[in-house]
Amino acid sequence: MLFRNRQRPSINIKSAQELEGMRRAGRLASQCLEHIAKHAKPGVSTEELHELQMEFAKKHNAIPAPLNYKGFPKSLCTSINEVVCHGIPTPSRILQEGDTIGIDVTLIVDGFYGDNATTIPVGEIDEETQKLLWVTMESLKKAIEKVEPGRRLGDIGSTIQTFAEQKHGYGVVRDFVGHGIGTKFHEEPQVPHYGKPRTGVRLRPGMTFTIEPMINLGTWKLKVLEDGWTAVTLDGKPSAQYEHTLAVTENGVEILTVQNDEGIWEPPGRFEIAKPASLA
Ligand code: MF3
Ligand code: CO
Ligand code: CO
Repeated sequence: MLFRNRQRPSINIKSAQELEGMRRAGRLASQCLEHIAKHAKPGVSTEELHELQMEFAKKHNAIPAPLNYKGFPKSLCTSINEVVCHGIPTPSRILQEGDTIGIDVTLIVDGFYGDNATTIPVGEIDEETQKLLWVTMESLKKAIEKVEPGRRLGDIGSTIQTFAEQKHGYGVVRDFVGHGIGTKFHEEPQVPHYGKPRTGVRLRPGMTFTIEPMINLGTWKLKVLEDGWTAVTLDGKPSAQYEHTLAVTENGVEILTVQNDEGIWEPPGRFEIAKPASLA
């Protein structure tokens, strides 16, 4: 979601019963993302992915949250190559060998939201972009490993920023951030993917939020196209994003957008991204 300067967030702590609802939404969103990602092959249009999303939601009695959200016209976001996020499916954009596609799926199940995203190669991609994907996935994983009661949001942001910017020289997007989630798409707090350790909101059991780093090969700066949605990198270089919905537990974290009962790490969309030889 779009970053806004805000003070004193009022954060919704979920009950055990609400967490059960979040778990069901998260699991279905994860199954849906996997289903759609499997169809992202050369020759397929992003409109066809939207249609698959509509069918899946109908079949499982879920609502695709993006459709008509603040006027967004389709049921999911498809963000190709230099598109950072909020790409709009269209019949004219056909996936080609060498593209990367970000797929962001959010479902509403019995009133609860599950939000997750992946970025996957379409056929073979170049080594430089493969490395971007791997580093972005790894930055999400490292950030999730930091989540436990007593930690602060700045610890999460700085983990991502240190790894992606200092270590690998990429740009961490500032304009869009993760977000609290529950019976609304976007709740407090905002979850920046940059920041300083030991600053910001303190994590407490029952908080549910997303972490969804957008990492650019070049500059972190972006612009939004005329359609009012599509965010693209200012330098036209590729961008990648992975997202999970999480809950803070008594002693750590539970990932809600997974298909296992333990809430443990699973790559978003369940696509393992190979570590490039240059990083081995
Ligand atoms: N799923 C996106 C997120 O992670 C939000 C998409 S808003 C839409 O926050 F309107 F573009 F769908
Ligand atoms: Co989100
Ligand atoms: Co999302």
